[in-house]
Amino acid sequence: MSISLAILEEVVREAGSIALTYFKDLKNVEVNKKSPRDFVTDADVAVENFLKETLTGKYPQYGFWGEESGQSENQTNRWIVDPIDGTHSFSRGQYFWAISVALEIDQEIVIGAVYAPALNDYYCAEKGMGAWKNGMSIAVSSESNLADGMVATGFACLRSYLTDNNLERFGRIAQNTTGQRRFGSAALDLCLVADGQVDAFWEQELNLYDVAAGALIAREAGATLTDFQGNEGIFPKQILVTNGKILNQILPLM
Ligand code: IPD
Ligand code: CA
Ligand code: CA
Repeated sequence: MSISLAILEEVVREAGSIALTYFKDLKNVEVNKKSPRDFVTDADVAVENFLKETLTGKYPQYGFWGEESGQSENQTNRWIVDPIDGTHSFSRGQYFWAISVALEIDQEIVIGAVYAPALNDYYCAEKGMGAWKNGMSIAVSSESNLADGMVATGFACLRSYLTDNNLERFGRIAQNTTGQRRFGSAALDLCLVADGQVDAFWEQELNLYDVAAGALIAREAGATLTDFQGNEGIFPKQILVTNGKILNQILPLM
């Protein structure tokens, strides 16, 4: 692996400083809507431009796919970036948003970094090597009883156009769990499963840039990644991440 996790951390933390500069001066940040519930700010664009320039400058062998600037020609080996995941929360001065950077080689995510600058939490993972939060190894929770579990979900910004808007599923699962959360950043939601802070997370209609880094971090921390039928893999349109121990209890409720 020619990528040093330490160098990547420096780059991602610098991107975080750029985002924080905007975050501390929100009244001067321009917030626009790409569609009714899909937001973009100056900060999203500035962070993505910085990451694109820096990562493709340092590693010209890899392409780049960012949420705001789209895909480059090299689609086999590429960086997959969500410059700010949780833009709506960011734009309201809330703390749950993150920069998400993954490296995909031959259709497999091999490195992932998710940095939440306002929380100062840095999560990362390397395929086969484990997952870390702020330099310490992390692992999923040991909860094996869904009824005692805490779960998180998200509601796709396309939800008004979907026949399945997640509300019935949320209701079913809420009746069968102790705690339910909606944090507003899918990248961070995956890291919270990785860190044992919640026992499961699910959402529909995400994109690979929302989940690529977090999915590797979760998997390396021992999580199971499936679709709502239990097929293993990373399915952004229907992602279910659990600590593994409650998978068979939550699947029938999906
Ligand atoms: C959004 C966040 C949110 C999820 C939305 C995503 P964005 O990403 O991940 O948690 O519920 O579906 O679009 O737009 O803030 O990058
Ligand atoms: Ca996102
Ligand atoms: Ca985003």
